[in-house]
Amino acid sequence: MRNCQVLAELEKEIKACTKCPLHANRKNAVPGEGNPKAIIMFIGEAPGRNEDIEGRPFVGAAGRLLTSLIEQIGLKREDVYITNVVKCRPPNNRDPKPDEIDACSPYLDRQIKCITPRIIVTLGRHSTKYLLEKNGYSFRSILKIHGRIYSIKIDSLDVKLIPTLHPAAALYNPRLLEVLKEDFGKIKNQIKEVSGKKEKIGLERFF
Ligand code: URA
Ligand code: SF4
Repeated sequence: MRNCQVLAELEKEIKACTKCPLHANRKNAVPGEGNPKAIIMFIGEAPGRNEDIEGRPFVGAAGRLLTSLIEQIGLKREDVYITNVVKCRPPNNRDPKPDEIDACSPYLDRQIKCITPRIIVTLGRHSTKYLLEKNGYSFRSILKIHGRIYSIKIDSLDVKLIPTLHPAAALYNPRLLEVLKEDFGKIKNQIKEVSGKKEKIGLERFF
């Protein structure tokens, strides 16, 4: 219960945030959504046009692909928590700038501590670079390291970090879609490993 309240407060704080210039052009900040007790979190880059309009993460074409990949591994969108490393839309969907990631990432850190997932999946290079470097790993190329399973600690809890491609990259590229599907197979195996019982994934906590 406690973590649900903290998460809801955090979402309100993000909606009112003016800590970086991205607040000026947004329609809505996009804090994230999902199960506050999820055992798995998906972390993308930044909201796009549809997300900015709706105030919800991954609701455009890349979002539909992400939702279908989540369903293909036996979960529902409501079982997991979905967010981004930057919570407001960069103009014309440009890459987030390092200063913007610095300003916004403390929200992500707090969300992770609140949810305490056992598995974190980073989607694409920005969230992967942020979380790997924060945990003492070096990062060069998402295409080189996608699908690997990294062990990290968050508040002394063991968490598996699994980087994969951003679903937008796979939308019009069948080869990359195959890569993404293979990585989701690995994610499914990890979920089984940490939860023990596949049927209960995301619905309650086992540890
Ligand atoms: N791309 C992202 O990285 N995040 C979203 O929420 C939507 C598209
Ligand atoms: Fe605040 Fe993050 Fe939005 Fe910048 S991107 S205004 S830091 S919520």
